[in-house]
Amino acid sequence: MAPVLSGSPPPDDRRALPIGVFDSGVGGLTVLHELLVSLPREDFLYLGDSARLPYGTRAPHELRAFAVETGEELLARGAKLLVVACNSATATALEHLRRHVAATDRETDVIGVVGPESNLAVAATRSGRIGLLATPATVTSGAYERAVQGADALTRLTSVACPDLAAIIEEDAPVTRRVVETVRGYCGPLIDARVDTVILGCTHYPLVRPMLQRILGPDVRLITSGAAMVRRVQHALSVRDLVATRPGEGHYAFLTTGDAARFRATGTRFLQLPIEEVEHVDLTTRAAA
Ligand code: DGL
Repeated sequence: MAPVLSGSPPPDDRRALPIGVFDSGVGGLTVLHELLVSLPREDFLYLGDSARLPYGTRAPHELRAFAVETGEELLARGAKLLVVACNSATATALEHLRRHVAATDRETDVIGVVGPESNLAVAATRSGRIGLLATPATVTSGAYERAVQGADALTRLTSVACPDLAAIIEEDAPVTRRVVETVRGYCGPLIDARVDTVILGCTHYPLVRPMLQRILGPDVRLITSGAAMVRRVQHALSVRDLVATRPGEGHYAFLTTGDAARFRATGTRFLQLPIEEVEHVDLTTRAAA
């Protein structure tokens, strides 16, 4: 991390510590983007587990193990709050990671994208028909169904698993016809179900937001994780008295289990802000220790 700015709280003050954010790769930078824009004074440390991408087709036991390893790395580097930016990891492993952190006697809060996004979608719908586009791991977990039903038992969720969409969005830049046709195919069941609100249940989908809006129609509300997370993070920091008090902008730094140069090159498109230092980390070393 870059050094603490002059005028910042002393280093032992937890308010000056970074917020840890993790994802399976660069996709979670769409969530970090929203957090950087809305919480400019905070420091952020982002970990992209690119070496084990994709998470969206992984089994639950793998995602639980990965969540603990990535969470531990960020906690070891002083994270004051853990944000699980990955929808697949949140849907499958959030409770497991929370229990792990609590069992090891740490008070760090662990927050994920499913709850805040579902609440926003339920608040936005007028017809009570909501759509979900997400990876197979997320859809199979049933996490969005439970969250939406928990917020409003009368709301109906139509879920569409999109096994290849995240990879196609990442590979095809600038946007190709293959992206448009893939997105169109996944929107079909949502149009048939006449949903008026659609949850973008994967980190990558904000990049195809304009074409989703065009295909689904201008009256359909699109809900993204990043926007939903901002309020949840603000709340978590406030109740624990962890809001950064320094003047000016915070720092943001990156770790990846994959290739640092590739992370920087691909990640800039997702973050829409400059990415400078990227450090390679090996999580399997930590797990073996
Ligand atoms: N970050 C993942 C998610 O939001 C998408 C990419 C992947 O499959 O790892 O579910």
